[in-house]
Amino acid sequence: MNTAVLRDTENSDRLEFPIPAGVYAERVVSVKHYTDRLFAFRITRPRSFRFRSGEFVMIGLPNAEKPVFRAYSMASPAWDEELEFFSIKVADGPLTQHLQKIKAGDTILMRQKPTGTLVLDALTPGRRLYMISTGTGIAPFASLVRDPETYEKFDQIVLTHTCRDLAELTYGEELIAATREDPLIGELTEGRLQHFTSTTREASGSQGRITSWIESGALFKTLGTPPFDPTTDRVMICGSIAMIKDVKALVEKAGLKEGSNAVPADFVVERAFVG
Ligand code: A2P
Repeated sequence: MNTAVLRDTENSDRLEFPIPAGVYAERVVSVKHYTDRLFAFRITRPRSFRFRSGEFVMIGLPNAEKPVFRAYSMASPAWDEELEFFSIKVADGPLTQHLQKIKAGDTILMRQKPTGTLVLDALTPGRRLYMISTGTGIAPFASLVRDPETYEKFDQIVLTHTCRDLAELTYGEELIAATREDPLIGELTEGRLQHFTSTTREASGSQGRITSWIESGALFKTLGTPPFDPTTDRVMICGSIAMIKDVKALVEKAGLKEGSNAVPADFVVERAFVG
């Protein structure tokens, strides 16, 4: 029987459970903790696993006969030979209370079929792509900003990331810096990729919810772009449910229509999954 091994970091026992059918068992390559609420990890990528940048997959741990699975956006681009994920840590979260303790070499379970609406295919052609994120909602965009197809389809790419404090912005800052220097993507981003950050619970250069920045027009002034326009702009939104609802209302007010894989249009939304 195929079994997956997970080190129980609390008592350093090795636990073994059968791998459920239709699930990959992959190895943790590295883990990076950003704050006491956020961490990122990379795992080996199954050779047969294909996905479109922006999609998510169900992730679990081999720590029970019937493991808990939660949806995680691939944060790595489709061309990367490993898979990267960016996660919240919830003290009593059914999955993340355990997932936050993983170490290199541990086993991660992954269901085989990726899916999701934050994909380029769900948008009609446009000139400017806004990716609006809060917290771990930046994950699917971490994939898309590193995908050459994003730059083939859009002239200008704007990634906004709003978090409670400055430390929570670090993952995105590192991502953008690395993307700009990447031998494959760096050149494509030149003069075309803008990164806007704001904090809501700590003083910083730019404070406030993204909704306030959009409503006041300050976002557009800062970026040097015109207000949302359905003839040129496409928007992807990912983060908390409340943020999605409020930003969705703002883009709809500007005349943008919601798209899907089946019927592409002007904007798409997906909640950042937690727990
Ligand atoms: P705030 O600090 O004012 O709640 P979280 O870490 O709780 O998921 O939140 C991530 C970010 O999303 C925070 O900066 C938070 O601001 C912001 N946020 C929460 N709700 C909304 C909303 N309805 N509209 C815009 N931003 C929001």
